This record gives sequence, C-alpha cells and structure tokens, in this order.
Amino acid sequence: MAKKVSDHITWVGKIDWELAHFHGDELSTTKGSSYNSYLVRGSEKTVLVDTVWLPYDKEFIRNLKQEIDLKDIDAVVMNHNEIDHSGSLPELMRELPEGTPIYSTKKGEGIIRGHYHQDWNFVNVKTGDKLDLGDIDLTFIEAPMLHWPDTMFTYVSGDEVLLSNDAFGQHFATESLFDDRIDMSEMMYECMKYYANILNLYSPMVARKIKELQGLNLPIKMIAPSHGVIWRQHPVEIVETYAKWAAAYQEDQITIVYDTMWQSTRKMAQYIAKGIQLASPDTTVKLYNAHTEDKNDILTEIFRSKAVLVGCPTINYGVSYAIAGILEMAKGLKFKNKKAAAFGSYGWSGDAPKQITEALQGAGFEIVSDPLKNLWVPDEEAEAQDVEYGKAFAEAVK
Ligand code: FEO
Repeated sequence: MAKKVSDHITWVGKIDWELAHFHGDELSTTKGSSYNSYLVRGSEKTVLVDTVWLPYDKEFIRNLKQEIDLKDIDAVVMNHNEIDHSGSLPELMRELPEGTPIYSTKKGEGIIRGHYHQDWNFVNVKTGDKLDLGDIDLTFIEAPMLHWPDTMFTYVSGDEVLLSNDAFGQHFATESLFDDRIDMSEMMYECMKYYANILNLYSPMVARKIKELQGLNLPIKMIAPSHGVIWRQHPVEIVETYAKWAAAYQEDQITIVYDTMWQSTRKMAQYIAKGIQLASPDTTVKLYNAHTEDKNDILTEIFRSKAVLVGCPTINYGVSYAIAGILEMAKGLKFKNKKAAAFGSYGWSGDAPKQITEALQGAGFEIVSDPLKNLWVPDEEAEAQDVEYGKAFAEAVK
C-alpha cells in the first residue's frame, strides 16, 4: 500500500517481513527489511526513485499502478543499482513509455547494463546536477562507495527530503514508515548492525560525505533511505551518529568471542571475563560462542567494543570453522582503534591462539597480550591464571 511521505513524495516500496538473509547468507536480517521506492510528483514532472528487489517486481508494478497511471511517470532515478533496488527495473521498463530516461551516475549506468543487458535511455548525472519537476527540483549528490561505486543521493527541494539510498538505512521491517512511530532502541540496533556489517570498511568515505553534505547547507527535514524507516524526527541525529560511527567508534566494552569442543575454551572465556570485571567493573563484558551466535551480531558487538578476545581450541593444528569465519569477516570490515588478544585450550600442538593472534594482527587489531593457552581441561591453577590474564588485559586496554 502506498504511503504519503511529504507533499510531493509517496512511498511505493515493498516491506519484506520474511527476509532472513541478505547478500546470500553473508548478512542476517532477523527483523526483515524493506525496499523503499519513492514517487516524487512535481507540478510538471513525476519521477520514480529506485525500485524493489526482483522477486517482488510484479507485486511492485501492480501496486504502483494503483497509485499512478504508469504513462505519467516521466523518468526513473536510480540512486544505486544493487539488485535489491534495481531488480524490478526490467519489469518497470517494459511498462513505461519507450525511451523513458533513467537518471543515474555513470557507474550506475554501467552496473545496470551489466545486470540487465538493455540499451535503455540512460542519463548520467554528477553532484550538483538538477532535474526540474516544476514547483520542485531534484539535486543529485554522488556518494561513491556508500557502499557501491555507483551510489548517489537525491535531494528533493521544497519538501527538503534527502533520498539517501542505503546510507542511514536499516534492515528493519515496519508498516509504520517513520522513526517517530517505532521502537527506537530496536531499530537503532539494526541501524548499527547495518553500519558495522556493510558500511564500516568505507568509514573514511562516510566521514568525507557527511562533511560535504554539511558544507552544502541543504535544509533537511527528512532523510528517506532505501531500507527501513524514514528519519522524520531524528534526521540530524542520525547524521551525527554516522559521523561518530565513522570515526573509529568504540564504547567501554570488551567482547569475548570463542568456540569450544569440550567446554575448556568456554571455561577459559568465563575466567578471563571474571578477571576483566574484577579489574574494570564498569566495563561491559559480553561473551559469544561463534558457533551458535549470529555472526553479524557478533561483528556488531566487535564494532562497538574497545577490545576483543578471541578463543578457540586447537583443531587439526588450526582454528575452527566458526572462528576462521569471524576472523575473515572482521578483516574485511577493517575495524579501527581496537585492541585484542587470543586464547584457547589444547591437547598437543596448541597452535590456534598463535594463529588467531596473527589473524587479528593482520585484520588491524592491536595485540596487547601474548596468547593464553590451557592444556586439556583447566584446573584451579589454570583458572587462577586465566583470571589474572583477564585482569591484565583489562588494564592494558583501559
Ligand atoms: Fe540496499 Fe546496496 O543495496
């Protein structure tokens, strides 16, 4: 069902309550998502900004037809062309009058051509280019690598709405559309998870883009991303929050991520946690089993931490599948300003903590303690040693 956003803008997207995975299985989306498409109606021209994910293309067109005669759409604006936003383009372009222009960045055109292999009427735009719709106009602002090379924002004058595509978005299904109508704490977690897992590695570009946006002095009443809620009450706050997240963000938190075969490494994790709490009672300490806990939630907790401890028993002279996966993902996300150390139980070779230490170092973490190892099942002496290790680690990351 279409929803009114502002005088000239109507939401015509798709709310996907069922979405559980995104980017294949790389990102969990436990709260679903939405693909936000916006119809912008000026006094002389009407444009559609972004479409929805491919499986919903027919549903999207059917709903769009209930809102507008498709002949009245003068142009399509594609802020970003990943398939969750461009997937319905082929179905849409079959219905729109021949030659309807598609506005995008030059990179966007390349991506659309590469995905759909069609010779549509492409119009390339750059930062500052405008599209006159009569009583309002659109201004395009390139935002490369937020999070694809083609990404741009579209600013709607008059209504003063920034259509920001993925930036400022969340995988969060809601029928309520606006930030003042939902549970903010639930949504803000999804917003942080989105940033940590999708945008963090592009933080330098995020910081630069925010400065540039602020320099443009555009009055912004709302920020309407392509996933999740529209920022109607908190548009300034979400930009400020992004600026903080982009600046090597950390809270007073230590996250312990471990895997375990026969509970020895889990016990080590708990003893280390005890030591941290004894040395630094105000520090938040969280423990996650990498094998059973959601990988993207773990990465979100790493994102908000000042330090991490990663533990694994030695398996086949190496680390477990789950720990290797988390370390690989952490490397790709390029976390900054985080300290780390490794631990694990062992029976003979005991290679895992050293390998984890090297992987953490390679991923940009600052190693502050030598790896900790316990032979077989930790006894009282090993427990005391682990607690002391936790204390020393807490002191080292203060
Ligand atoms: Fe929501 Fe990068 O697509």
